[in-house]
Amino acid sequence: MIKQQHNFLFEEYNSADELKQDDAFLLNEARSATQFAYAPYSNFQVGAAAKLINGEVVIGSNQENASYPVGICAERVLLSSASSQYPNIAIDTIAISYNNMKGTSNTPASPCGICRQTISEYQERGKRAIRLILSGMEGKVIIVSNAADLLPLSFSAEDMK
Ligand code: THU
Repeated sequence: MIKQQHNFLFEEYNSADELKQDDAFLLNEARSATQFAYAPYSNFQVGAAAKLINGEVVIGSNQENASYPVGICAERVLLSSASSQYPNIAIDTIAISYNNMKGTSNTPASPCGICRQTISEYQERGKRAIRLILSGMEGKVIIVSNAADLLPLSFSAEDMK
């Protein structure tokens, strides 16, 4: 038996002011996309924005439903949209933000488990690491340089060979 360990480095910034211009722009797009959320049940508006390797920016927001499990997270709305508009263009970076209408929005939030799995599939399709920029409407920002770090020992097409 051997013991294995998974750990990873990520960057933490005190605010968006410390980001490089491109990253600050993308985070701003994600923050702005929160306004397009349809979240009357949770009042938790999530916005996501992806920069593709061709320079295009695609946005998404969470879309809820009276039948709660039918709702879709902002990240998966974004990825489906990007893949539909630009089917074979890899994603470079995804920024994710949220506006909590019932509380505060000043600490970074991470994608849920289903979204991590979905991001992982698109990362493999694009054959390159997807960077993640995570932040609320203000305050700290986290940058993860490889989305795969958020889903260790993940299941993928490789496992079905
Ligand atoms: N949500 C997202 O859009 N992305 C996540 O990664 C976490 C949760 C949405 C789903 C639901 O509409 C609301 O936030 C509250 O869970």
